[in-house]
Amino acid sequence: MPNHQSAKEEIKRTADIVQVIGQFVQLKKAGKNSIGLCPFHAEKDPSFTVSSDRQMFHCFGCKKGGDIFAFWMEYHGLTFPEALKDLAERYNVQITEKFSATEEKKRSDLRETLLKINGTAALYFQQALSKAARGNPAADYLKKRALSKEIISEFRLGYAPDKWHGITDYLREHKIDLERAVQAGLIIPKKGGGYYDRFRGRVMFPILNLRGQVVGFGGRVLDDSLPKYLNTPETPVFHKGEFPYGLHASFKAIRQKGIAVIVEGYMDLLALRRHGLDEVVATLGTALTAQHIRKIKGYAKEAVVVFDSDEAGRNAALRSLPLFLNEGLPAKAVVLPNGHDPDSFVNTKGLPEFLKLLDSASSMFDFFLDQKLTQDDSDIEGKVHVLKEILPVLSQLRNAAQRSLYAGRLSEQIGIKEEVILSELKSFKQDLSGDVLERGLKGRLTDPKVEKKIGDIQLLNLLVHHPKAVTGLINSDCKTLLSDDTASKIVEVIFEKYRREGQFSPENIEENLDNDDVRIRLREVMVADSIYSNQEVKQAVEEIREKARQKRLSDSVKEIKGDPEALNDLLLKLRAQISC
Ligand code: UTP
Ligand code: MN
Repeated sequence: MPNHQSAKEEIKRTADIVQVIGQFVQLKKAGKNSIGLCPFHAEKDPSFTVSSDRQMFHCFGCKKGGDIFAFWMEYHGLTFPEALKDLAERYNVQITEKFSATEEKKRSDLRETLLKINGTAALYFQQALSKAARGNPAADYLKKRALSKEIISEFRLGYAPDKWHGITDYLREHKIDLERAVQAGLIIPKKGGGYYDRFRGRVMFPILNLRGQVVGFGGRVLDDSLPKYLNTPETPVFHKGEFPYGLHASFKAIRQKGIAVIVEGYMDLLALRRHGLDEVVATLGTALTAQHIRKIKGYAKEAVVVFDSDEAGRNAALRSLPLFLNEGLPAKAVVLPNGHDPDSFVNTKGLPEFLKLLDSASSMFDFFLDQKLTQDDSDIEGKVHVLKEILPVLSQLRNAAQRSLYAGRLSEQIGIKEEVILSELKSFKQDLSGDVLERGLKGRLTDPKVEKKIGDIQLLNLLVHHPKAVTGLINSDCKTLLSDDTASKIVEVIFEKYRREGQFSPENIEENLDNDDVRIRLREVMVADSIYSNQEVKQAVEEIREKARQKRLSDSVKEIKGDPEALNDLLLKLRAQISC
């Protein structure tokens, strides 16, 4: 038995995959399965499927899939040992065996160490903030920024004192390997030996992942010096743009309200939270990424992005439209009055005014159009230019009604006839992929393999959904009905397993499959509905046996064509078969 098999099995028995994945992806029932928008690739229509019966998931779009461990590893970017540890903790399962020191294990150990060091550092910063409350420059600063005690403690804000060896000494005293602290981005080696603190004289904002661990920090100066914010560099546990700040604290409110308000900065998020708006996340100054949106759409039905009114803010809004369209998350844009960011706005005007702004938000598309039209000249050249920029974006809308709606709006705004826009759009799409797509589709429909595939589908579906059918099929020639290698491989493995163990279940043959295509194929059959009911199994087995017999005959006829003697033999054999 492979290591950790028993802990793995116990977790699988205890944890329900639909419930676990449902914490990160919005799922809805579709027959016996649940479906949602895939968190691993861009899609507008759900092809991410979770099967409660099978306790597995599969995405028909990007083909990722597997059990609860496969999901946890892929979603959180972890190795198997880390996923096992996480889930074991959540479901109170003891892990007794030790992992051997594989590369994977080393990576997972390193990350665990770095997370632990970050946790220790966060505590150090927190203590430095609460110490000597009076005259503590960071505490004074946060008061000036109108942050409450509750927010400071919920978001674990801290202070990196203005010292060269503050955290360095603290970590050394706590027996932490300083080379690891370098890797965590907290301290920096000196040329002549020794280390010094990266963050000095800054308010510290720990950045938490969805598992509640500190992956990195942002630190803000207390005055006007530069850089205003200093962030943890790329480390094995911190990747800029991977997930939005504050999601760990906001995801419940986001799912409850269905809306995620997206802002830029730490302070913006904290100010809104302080005023009671909980459904908010921040991008931390980087442009919004597809990864951000994929995480957010696991909770939100709609996003409202609040942009600063400056040029950079407007450009960020424009760049985000294609991303939202690609990810299928409806989005609106709010631009704040000149000179404001969400923090200054909510602190001077209050939450009700901010909510009014959210209510009046226009769709990202309209915002895009507005911006483009005011930026460019209104002469013919300008209009053509706008059209050129918008067509690629419009062509990404799969929904025809939506496309024509936007085309109508565009026509109104720039005074070009709607028909012209739609026909431009059509030719644009054809240039891009239309022709190729159509040819591909036609090719597939006229492919003789398609007809043969029916045999593959029936046989695989029967074996996977009714494993007992194996007894009636194992001694037949049913494999001759299969037209492709992946299907043959699966049937072969099933038969082999049955011969060796006297039984098989589709969940347990994955380890015998040696390539991804085959595994993907198996998952797709597993999450599909069963073609046959229990009562139909016997008849289906008979039908398949009969088809296999006919197939063998016609193959033999092909082989002996033009050899009358062999044909005669065959006929004799046939007669014998029919009479017995
Ligand atoms: P802003 O410059 O808008 O700052 O940067 P802010 O959030 O309003 O900060 P306050 O109100 O002056 O304190 C927005 C975000 O961009 C990132 C930070 O995450 C910041 O919150 N940023 C900004 C950096 O990473 N480095 C910088 O030097 C500046
Ligand atoms: Mn600000």
